[in-house]
Amino acid sequence: MPIITCIDDLRQLHRRRAPKMFFDYAESGSFTEQTFRENTTDFTRIRLRQRVGRQLDNRSTRTTMLGQEVAMPVALSPVGMAGMQSADGEIKAARAAARFGVPFTLSTMSICSIEDVARHADAPFWFQLYVMRDETFVDNIIDRAKAAGCSALVLTLDLQLVAQRHKDLKNRLSAPPRPSVATVLDLATRWRWGLQMLRTRRHTFRNIIGHAKGVDDIASLMNWSNEQFDPLLNWDKVARIRDRWGGKLVIKGILEAEDAERAADLGTDAIVVSNHGGRQLDGALSTIRSLAPVVAAVGQRTEVWLDGGIRTGQDVLKALAMGARGTMIGRAYIYGLGAMGEAGVTRALEIIHNELDTSMALCGRKSVTELDRDNILVPKGFEGDWQ
Ligand SMILES: Cc1cc2nc3c(=O)[nH]c(=O)nc-3n(C[C@H](O)[C@H](O)[C@H](O)COP(=O)(O)O)c2cc1C
Repeated sequence: MPIITCIDDLRQLHRRRAPKMFFDYAESGSFTEQTFRENTTDFTRIRLRQRVGRQLDNRSTRTTMLGQEVAMPVALSPVGMAGMQSADGEIKAARAAARFGVPFTLSTMSICSIEDVARHADAPFWFQLYVMRDETFVDNIIDRAKAAGCSALVLTLDLQLVAQRHKDLKNRLSAPPRPSVATVLDLATRWRWGLQMLRTRRHTFRNIIGHAKGVDDIASLMNWSNEQFDPLLNWDKVARIRDRWGGKLVIKGILEAEDAERAADLGTDAIVVSNHGGRQLDGALSTIRSLAPVVAAVGQRTEVWLDGGIRTGQDVLKALAMGARGTMIGRAYIYGLGAMGEAGVTRALEIIHNELDTSMALCGRKSVTELDRDNILVPKGFEGDWQ
């Protein structure tokens, strides 16, 4: 077993252990992948300020997200098809998150259903909703999330249509994979993955199959999902969903202060500054560069979280110092899941926690709630000067 000391170790193991089409699915951004790359590289442009001579005992990374106590301000983002990176991946990630003490978000496009995860998870989780044209499906899935005890609805607004990812088209991505010579050759070296998949019955989108009108097999599911993302999604629809849900609401996929204000006017409990991990509008600003104007606009009215590009605890620290109340991670835990299942997600959380705690201490702070702009150096023009 290799010694895993950083998220990139998990990424490399994930690449070796999961089928190419699923690793590529996680690793890609849309079109030229500029925004995908800059989400991570822009973090490196912010520097931390080392402080000395301060007492550093009794440190804490604990705080709250949506009023819920968390071991560190890092929630797991919704990731479609996590159950293809590792068999029953959503259940494994939910369990690892609950044991670590951070929130897990289940995607609409998950392999395990809301009910599957609720049956096996040790704690309430959050449910992420994609708004589909079929309002009956949307209402039913909201009701299912309520019945399963989900403690927040994360409403994703930045995917009214799907931006192209070259690798997914070239790999003919599907869940389960279609039989082909390339798939068989690929699986021959990923036998561990194959064996685990044979042991589970969960191989396709169980939130949807059997729950959407006319969707009872893979072929009908593919047709349905191609035409269902709702191009008519507007703020009135968001208000309708807020009312139907009636619980804690998180709006995900905001980059602009003006949109953040609309979301805050609707009474959202948190806003996630996110560009879908660089998978949607290629050419958009990275999330770390988009954060400060959103915090300035609505930070007094609602929690603002950053999602996108986080690969280290230092990145979490920088986001908090730039004004975020919390963060979300996608690929950082998915690499862990693809590498080592539940233990890999736990390892990813441990790595980020250790990096956050150590770096916070070396910045002279004892609590994540004390982090602020004094802890960082930000290059001129980083957040602005764009016309
Ligand atoms: C493979 C993959 C699948 C994703 N699926 C969803 C999804 O189903 N719903 C959603 O709201 N966001 C989805 N996202 C976006 C993540 O929730 C999150 O915004 C993104 O991963 C953050 O960037 P990071 O991976 O650099 O941390 C997905 C991201 C990845 C990498």
